[in-house]
Amino acid sequence: MTDPLELRDELTDALVRAAAGATEYVTALHDDPVLAQGAEDVARSLDGDLPEDGDGALVALAELLELARSGATRSSGPRYFHFVMGGTTPASLGADWVTSALDQVAYSWASSPLASSLEVLSIEWLRELFELPDGFAGVLTTGATMANYTALAAARGWWAEHHGVDVEERGLAGLPAAPILTSGYIHPSAVQALGMLGLGRSNVRRLERDGVGRIDLDGLESALDELEGKPAIVIANAGEVNAGDFDPIAAIADLAARHEAWLHVDGAFGLFGRLAPETRALTDGIERADSVISDGHKWLNVPYDCGFAFVREPERLAKAFTVGAPYLPSPDDPRPSPGFLGPENSRRARAFAVWATLRAYGRSGYRAMVERHLGLAQRLAARVDEAPELERLAEVPLNIVCFRVHPPGAAEQDLDELNSRLGEALLRDGRVFAGTTTYDGKVAFRPAIVNWQTTESDVDLLIDVLRELVRADLTASRDPRAR
Ligand SMILES: Cc1ncc(COP(=O)(O)O)c(C=O)c1O
Repeated sequence: MTDPLELRDELTDALVRAAAGATEYVTALHDDPVLAQGAEDVARSLDGDLPEDGDGALVALAELLELARSGATRSSGPRYFHFVMGGTTPASLGADWVTSALDQVAYSWASSPLASSLEVLSIEWLRELFELPDGFAGVLTTGATMANYTALAAARGWWAEHHGVDVEERGLAGLPAAPILTSGYIHPSAVQALGMLGLGRSNVRRLERDGVGRIDLDGLESALDELEGKPAIVIANAGEVNAGDFDPIAAIADLAARHEAWLHVDGAFGLFGRLAPETRALTDGIERADSVISDGHKWLNVPYDCGFAFVREPERLAKAFTVGAPYLPSPDDPRPSPGFLGPENSRRARAFAVWATLRAYGRSGYRAMVERHLGLAQRLAARVDEAPELERLAEVPLNIVCFRVHPPGAAEQDLDELNSRLGEALLRDGRVFAGTTTYDGKVAFRPAIVNWQTTESDVDLLIDVLRELVRADLTASRDPRAR
């Protein structure tokens, strides 16, 4: 039998081993392949029955660290350009370790005054970082999906109130379908959130004017006019995932102000465009939104998982999420209870990492990082433009470069297959990581730059490796035996 109490002497050794192994992993991120050869086999080989008797913490940790070495995707490293995934700044990673050691429950003052206060302060610092108006407040979440959910719950409450219904008490029965208006840029997670809120995925109206998803502003205006004063939820997108483009938020905010509309902005990574002078204008109008969300584990570079939601009227979050019970803190207690403002009750103290990274690097550090990433995206675009077999498909307003492989003379009808094949080859190769998407009907690459460690050599390697794979593919197609 291995009762943890009997093995309590392992504690110090376990922490020292974990720190040593994790440090080794993290410091090698720069040089290790993003996906080690054989990593998928390691994952597939995991099996075995539940042990009747355990082998203790040191054995378990040694096995886990070995699995990490051979099988972990180095997604927190500088050459991971897939999706939009940030790394972990030293301050936030250290703080995250401390978070687990302290194991605070960031539910209420009663469960942890420290975690509750630091969450309030972190949200306030984030509000200041993004220059949102005084009075905006909110809550940390697991990511942008739950931040969308949280903020849109406040929007749902506002909308139902206009119909004379307390939706948290009564539910949606008897209410009409909620008009939800947006562009083709809406992220699937916002649609998912609307579904979870009972507002219905299929109620989302995408007013788009082209195959890329750009908003049809006239269409939005007509749709709002047609409602004749009935309330609508409008979702503007600050940074879409294929090319980093923005909806015209200021123009949408003008329309929302002239109608009965709740304006929600999904800025999962695009909100960080507010930090750099060259992209600030893209975010104009966000300060007039009713709710704004972003991610912590993307451009803030704090460990998974972390997102945050702000609302103009924070009491709407309390209305949506506070529950009472005799053994719980009173909802009238003036001391902060972040658990009252979001969907989770038992919650990790995510604020420790957020607070630590903002304390460590401040506004100027984050501005410098974002500006560096914007420059790297322009460099990547220039490398694409000068390569004869690559074709850029979109402007680069932010940190994503959307392009495809298009060798001179290649037939249009072969390009999707070629790009899908090369996308898989790039991931398999593992030296750099970038996935494909479909943009304007074309299979394309869309590397995103959000990792604090990424530099010019990483960006250059992405292009060099891809061009090498293109050459190999072309050789193999001339001689299929070489594939
Ligand atoms: C614009 C946008 N919104 C929402 C999300 C969902 O974020 P998360 O995966 O953190 O829940 C993403 C993720 O990429 C995103 O890019």
